[in-house]
Amino acid sequence: MKELLKFEDINISYEKRQVLYDVSFSLDYGEILGIVGNSGCGKSTLLKSILGLAGPKVLSGNIYFEDSDLLAINSRDMRNIRGNRISMVFQESGIHTNPLKTIGDTVFESMKAHKQISKEDSLGIALDIFESLSLPEPKRILKAYPFELSGGMNQRVGIALAMLNNPSIILADEPTSALDPIVAVQIVNELKSLREKYNTAIILVTHNIKIARSITDNILILNDGKVVDYGKTTEVLSSPKSDFTKELILSSVT
Ligand SMILES: Nc1ncnc2c1ncn2[C@@H]1O[C@H](COP(=O)(O)OP(=O)(O)O)[C@@H](O)[C@H]1O
Ligand SMILES: [Mg+2]
Repeated sequence: MKELLKFEDINISYEKRQVLYDVSFSLDYGEILGIVGNSGCGKSTLLKSILGLAGPKVLSGNIYFEDSDLLAINSRDMRNIRGNRISMVFQESGIHTNPLKTIGDTVFESMKAHKQISKEDSLGIALDIFESLSLPEPKRILKAYPFELSGGMNQRVGIALAMLNNPSIILADEPTSALDPIVAVQIVNELKSLREKYNTAIILVTHNIKIARSITDNILILNDGKVVDYGKTTEVLSSPKSDFTKELILSSVT
């Protein structure tokens, strides 16, 4: 079967400074891939390049999503993929949702951007997702503004919003690093249950190797923009090739 997403020898720069070097990997349907590395190694840049977000310039290589060549498609097709087929969860979802709109209004907007749907139907779909994520008081959440919710709740809502259009991939950029450990574990479990329920593939960017160990099928370790280890999570973490990965594992034990 064909891969869902495939990176081939991707090189990326900002202005004149190269930040990613010959990055290759693939993502299967329903797979959870962890991308792990220190701050500044290019993790967010890698995710941005998938959605063609402004900033990073792809110097060479290919990115394929199903049958689409993501570096060659027009902006209309990219808009259709973005938020619909591939959606994003940020480190702090609360600051990425419009503070002047209720969650319910944000739900309706992000669904009607991609298909004809009534407000009532969109809220119904959101309620189903909230319930499948066991969010407390789902109806109240729809009426709330982001500032009325806790950081952890905003993050859980952010994940639910990312699921609205039933994407085949969720890109989660350090979704737990602003949260306390108990909420972080809850978020990780929710991502896992989404994969189980909807077969959504997830790229989880994290600098926390314990989280990567607990949830990912495959793992890609980045150091200074280069892939230093990549493969099945259990194999990479039990017999890492690079000294960088070995140190990362040692430092996570303490
Ligand atoms: N918009 C930008 N313009 C110029 N340089 C950037 C920009 N965004 C990130 N960088 C630089 O690119 C490198 C990789 O950044 P990033 O992908 O955000 O790393 P990470 O997410 O792994 O912390 C860093 O050195 C960062 O300073
Ligand atoms: Mg980042």
